[in-house]
Amino acid sequence: MTDLHPDLVRILIDQEEIQKRVKELADQISQDFKDVKRLYIIGILKGAFIFLADLTRHISVPHVVDFMALSSYGRTTKSGAVRILMDLREPIEGQHILIVEDIVDTGHTLGYLLNILEGRNPASLHTCALVKKQRDIEAAPVDYLGFEIPDVWVVGYGLDYADLYRTLPYVAELKSEVYSD
Ligand code: IMP
Ligand code: MG
Repeated sequence: MTDLHPDLVRILIDQEEIQKRVKELADQISQDFKDVKRLYIIGILKGAFIFLADLTRHISVPHVVDFMALSSYGRTTKSGAVRILMDLREPIEGQHILIVEDIVDTGHTLGYLLNILEGRNPASLHTCALVKKQRDIEAAPVDYLGFEIPDVWVVGYGLDYADLYRTLPYVAELKSEVYSD
């Protein structure tokens, strides 16, 4: 039994389920990109760092890893305008790109990023996210999705609230009293 952190309501996805699904996603990606000489994987900081580390170690096609850091203005649990805090090290023209995100909520962040990267003329552009919140509107396309989750605030496995809880080994629902004052 995993001990539950006192700020959490319940575990939504446990460690074992995550590891199994991450391996499946990596196998699917390796299969789909088997003819690509160099897959350019972009991890979105900070949230994707744990997922990215596990995922890429199961990917069997030649790949490189780079990072971007993005930030939304506004409060910690509300998304707003997106800006680039840290950009890629190389131009990506003609490269096969896979964006790796921790979570897609409204899809604003991923939608913005797709727009920016499209403009740099990659050979192909795909997206992978560990979790996606169930919403009525389709915000941004996720080609490789780990799990759909209910619309609650989740932490763990890279996901944070105010930069905390990222290193919990599972994805769990945060108690609302922790973030509402
Ligand atoms: P968006 O609404 O899809 O643009 O998501 C904006 C950003 O908010 C994501 O990239 C995450 O960093 C963060 N985010 C959204 N929902 C959650 C959550 O439940 N837990 C942790 N971070 C979240
Ligand atoms: Mg975040």
